[in-house]
Amino acid sequence: MDVLLGAQWGDEGKGKVVDVIAPRYEVIARFQGGPNAGHTLIFEGQKHVLHTIPSGVFRAGTVNLVGNGVVIDPVIFLKEVRNLEAAGVDVRSSLLISRRAHLILPTHRALDAASELDKGKGKIGSTLKGIGPTYMDKTGRNGLRVGDLVRTDLLDRYKALVRKHERLLSLYDHPGATAEAEKEWLDAVAQLRTFNTVDCEHYLDQALREGKHVLAEGAQGTLLDIDFGTYPFVTSSNTISAGACTGLGVAPNRIGTVTGIFKAYCTRVGSGPFPTELNDATGERIRTAGNEFGSTTGRPRRCGWLDLPALRYAVMVNGITELAMMKADVLNGIDTIRICTHYRIDGRNVDRMPFDITEGIEPEYIDMAGWGDTSSDAELPVQLQRYIGTIEAAVGVPITIVSLGPDRKETILREVAHAG
Ligand code: IMP
Repeated sequence: MDVLLGAQWGDEGKGKVVDVIAPRYEVIARFQGGPNAGHTLIFEGQKHVLHTIPSGVFRAGTVNLVGNGVVIDPVIFLKEVRNLEAAGVDVRSSLLISRRAHLILPTHRALDAASELDKGKGKIGSTLKGIGPTYMDKTGRNGLRVGDLVRTDLLDRYKALVRKHERLLSLYDHPGATAEAEKEWLDAVAQLRTFNTVDCEHYLDQALREGKHVLAEGAQGTLLDIDFGTYPFVTSSNTISAGACTGLGVAPNRIGTVTGIFKAYCTRVGSGPFPTELNDATGERIRTAGNEFGSTTGRPRRCGWLDLPALRYAVMVNGITELAMMKADVLNGIDTIRICTHYRIDGRNVDRMPFDITEGIEPEYIDMAGWGDTSSDAELPVQLQRYIGTIEAAVGVPITIVSLGPDRKETILREVAHAG
């Protein structure tokens, strides 16, 4: 099983890369996260944003598996299915859902909102999809799972969980979920029950034994990982490659290649430290050129230069074997492009990710000549090749994919065997 994941703070362009390499795989599986994700795919002039459903859904013959590590909001899931069906995609026949995946309730969303409000200035900047409270119920051993939908006492279990949430919500003075939201959820659950479910650990074991190629598709990014991200400004799941094992029930020794997706610069949406952030005209230019607005929430993304200590860290904790560099075209026309090679902390040079990057950390940069334009069909501009070479040498992993635009066709696959 190969893994593909985000090497920064999410929004790297994972959806596009999965779509491009999907033909190599018979099964594409999501292993963590939920509708906080927004994987954008553009082809044949149409844009699609996926939240819960794996990005292989547009390729005929690919099985799309929603793993046990994913949290599912039945209402959002159904909307996604309906949108895809309206676009002529046959979702149902290619989709499998793990019985062990946990369900997001309307009261989880209410708890997310109440918690963020309570945190005030210290808020995480959550997408407010109920992700944190749902994973809390999972680890607190209170959650409802997809496999529970066929139980005769489902309604009792649901009501017991809602009662618990209401007690918590009253501590926050929060009104809780509306009756309409609850009805909508119960209706959606009735629909969700009609989809194909599996024990994904057994399904994948069998698929791998049969020699099938499986791709685990990560959501969010390494620096949003619950353990290794910029805690507490993170999401509530393991976004790193280890999460693919626990989120699908696949043993570590079955992992093959690990592809890390990163942008030629950095972005972050929501609160939290971001050493190379640009609060100036260049940051604004990157945001506009890159259309850096959240695909799930529409929020403007914070933009900054590429951060090599952070990328090296991602390579280390994930065991990344190859990298895909996205959105190089967004930097077209910028005369001087900066790369952060290390941090300056307490007067010392530090080239690895420290425990805390909130304060007292100065990024140190090298300046590289910009590459003008990438729109011609000719070879990559020599300055861009140098940029790529500098990154490869610094992180020790080859960049095998370079993306120069949102469309499937604007993708360069590189045969590289010279990582530094
Ligand atoms: P949550 O997972 O919705 O609770 O959000 C926690 C943090 O992760 C916030 O800073 C979000 O902006 C960020 N986040 C969650 N999902 C994504 C994503 O798919 N892309 C980028 N950032 C995300």
